[in-house]
Amino acid sequence: MRTQVGIVGAGPAGLLLSHLLARAGVDAVVLEARSREYVEQRVRAGVLEHPTVELLREVGLAGRFDRQGMPHEGISLRFDGGDHRIDFAALVGRGITVYGQQEVVKDLVAARLAAGGEIVFDAADVTLDGVDGDAPVVGYTKDGRRHELHCAAVAGCDGFHGVSRAVVAPQVFDRAHPYAWLGILAEAAPTHHELVYANHPRGFALYSMRSPEITRLYLQVPPDTDPAGWSDARIWDELGTRLAAEGFTLNEGPVLEKGVTGMRSFVAEPMRRGRLFLAGDAAHIVPPTGAKGMNLAIADVRVLAAALADLLLRGDERGVDAYSETCLRRVWRAEHFSAWMTSMLHVAPDGDAFDRRLQLSQLRYTVASRAAATSLAENYVGLPFPSGGSLS
Ligand code: APR
Ligand code: PHB
Repeated sequence: MRTQVGIVGAGPAGLLLSHLLARAGVDAVVLEARSREYVEQRVRAGVLEHPTVELLREVGLAGRFDRQGMPHEGISLRFDGGDHRIDFAALVGRGITVYGQQEVVKDLVAARLAAGGEIVFDAADVTLDGVDGDAPVVGYTKDGRRHELHCAAVAGCDGFHGVSRAVVAPQVFDRAHPYAWLGILAEAAPTHHELVYANHPRGFALYSMRSPEITRLYLQVPPDTDPAGWSDARIWDELGTRLAAEGFTLNEGPVLEKGVTGMRSFVAEPMRRGRLFLAGDAAHIVPPTGAKGMNLAIADVRVLAAALADLLLRGDERGVDAYSETCLRRVWRAEHFSAWMTSMLHVAPDGDAFDRRLQLSQLRYTVASRAAATSLAENYVGLPFPSGGSLS
């Protein structure tokens, strides 16, 4: 089989890349290790930055998202018994949209299949050869038979545990954080219209949502936590304590999903080897406190799609040569923001009273100073996608 771009991974990065390439007139085939059902049901984060929303609209992916996405104009920081709203609309004139990542994935799969795009699900044992030349080959097994995909370039969009990053053999920057999140999806109507990030002496808690019927909630727990040790009653009790505030009630309901996610900051440099390009979680991971993961993946593939179209349709190598550096500037900004939000909101297991006072001072300053609140808002709603923007 022959195509112009072989894409490994059908997460938001790989799927959106194939959509953008198709619009530019470049053929691609997506190879995904899991089934369609699995990738469409996988529960992940759900915050779309303003530039992400603009891009999805621009490329014809807005239909269901415009009807079901929940536009938010701010978030709350809750600490020391008080609730403090960061008003994105007033501070930076833009907001975010809450729409589950798996909904984005469903929309992308549907759009690709409707346009005759090729996604090979259940593709096992992917191998990458010849990436240093101009005719790489991607091998895979499907239904017990080995296949070869001959391409002009390969996009490694196979997430943190994929095979592509090892082929690039980049320098890695890695930091584990001493926290994890216990996340639940609950059949309970949201009682508050925006996200709440709570810093409580017992640990961080996050109040989020997916729809008018479904709440998404998280608790800071130690990294080695077994979710089986957390009964539904214990989870609701702890959420109630950490999120407590004047006039705030938490609707409880059946827990539909429960899981523990570790936290790390990770960057691979460069994001390219020859004709193999890394994008999304394959190249970088952020702790979830800033909700940046999917947005970074989307920013990467916007740059990559334009660069690959220039290379493959016009023989212009400037975009691919600049790809890694262009993306990494914005990636590191998000790494900083996510690590900063994480340290400001979580309770460090080895922290002392001095650390606690520094943290409270940072929280008070962030909500009291218009300059500090604007900085949070500007980063949270998303800095402009790379195009030589001076801030990133
Ligand atoms: N062969 C084929 N596919 C693979 C392989 C492999 N060897 N390894 C992993 N995959 C697939 C995974 O099954 C997954 O569907 O690659 C896909 C990677 O998708 P994501 O993990 O969703 O990563 P990405 O598309 O970069 O999305 C960005 O942002 O919010 C964060 O982690 C969150 O997924 C999110 C990410
Ligand atoms: C979510 O809704 O899943 C969510 C929201 C905000 C975050 C992380 C996750 O920072």
